[in-house]
Amino acid sequence: MMLVLGLESSCDETAVALVDEGRQVRAQRIASQDEAHIPFGGVVPELAARAHVERLTPMVATVLAEAGTRLEDVDAIAATAGPGLIGGVMIGLVTGKALAMAAGKPLIAINHLEGHALSPRLADPALDFPYLLLLVSGGHCQLLAVEGVGRYRRLATTIDDAVGEAFDKSAKVIGLGFPGGPAVERAARAGDPARFPLPRPLVGSAEPHFSFAGLKSAVLRGWSALEAPDAQAQADMAASFQHAATDCLVDRTARALTRAEGPLVVAGGVASNAHIRAALSALAEAHGRRFVAPPPWLCTDNAAMIGWAGIERLQLGQVDQLDAPARARWPLDPTAEPVRGAGAKA
Ligand code: KG4
Ligand code: ZN
Repeated sequence: MMLVLGLESSCDETAVALVDEGRQVRAQRIASQDEAHIPFGGVVPELAARAHVERLTPMVATVLAEAGTRLEDVDAIAATAGPGLIGGVMIGLVTGKALAMAAGKPLIAINHLEGHALSPRLADPALDFPYLLLLVSGGHCQLLAVEGVGRYRRLATTIDDAVGEAFDKSAKVIGLGFPGGPAVERAARAGDPARFPLPRPLVGSAEPHFSFAGLKSAVLRGWSALEAPDAQAQADMAASFQHAATDCLVDRTARALTRAEGPLVVAGGVASNAHIRAALSALAEAHGRRFVAPPPWLCTDNAAMIGWAGIERLQLGQVDQLDAPARARWPLDPTAEPVRGAGAKA
């Protein structure tokens, strides 16, 4: 049975996993760097890169030992080669190349977004192509028709911020700190989503694109207008924001349903949000479509999804050379046109 070692280091999670063709994650480690970045209220690229250097190699040894596997028994090394913070990406990719050389095994350079896009197939053996994917993370917010491994047709993207970024920035504004997404979800449980009227940018528009900058600014305005913000206000704003963001995701995804076949699938860090999962599940049900969401641990950054993408590529005989480049930007659908009003993000 094929066995792939996956490495992930494109943002602030250092992760290593050993995954097999039978969809078993034989061992995995995820080291979050939250403590290093908390004082700065966000990820500091240099600090992230340094932490990846220190942790990655010992974590490889730990994962192999835990699985009772030698490096020579692994069929390939899959490492994230982008997109992401370039320092971290280079460290993971170089480590992957060194391991591949040492073991005489092929290297597979994985697009981090492809890791997210295929992760639902690791969790659900019945999920076949094609499917409509809502990919929601800290840096990306896209709707993709996933037609096969390496075959991604972008139907929509954000014209400004990613939804995870909006969660993180709103959390910062209302004093919930970093990382923001999980903190907003937690605070929102005790909040009144109707207290703060917030905009739903682009809701109702014909193309299924996203926009979150106006929502984020509205959170800032609403929060600044409060005379004495307290814990209840924090909970109410978190709930109001989460509802508005969810409405945007649901409305935009509904638009795309007619443009792609198969189940509705959600992946990426924001897909771990229970409120958003429930709303998307209801949307799918209303349209008679199956809904698939990986377990929360597989939504946020991890190496099992990188190892799994490696398995999928290896099954097709797709491996890379040792000069595979590290890329800060790497769109899943290179043919997608830039969207009017969008910044330079891929
Ligand atoms: O996929 P991911 O772990 O890293 C990237 O590739 O960006 O996604 C991280 C993003 C962050 O913006 C984080 O705040 C958000 O996912 N996130 C959440 C939740 N957990 C993580 N957003 C909302 N609710 C959550 N429970
Ligand atoms: Zn990610």
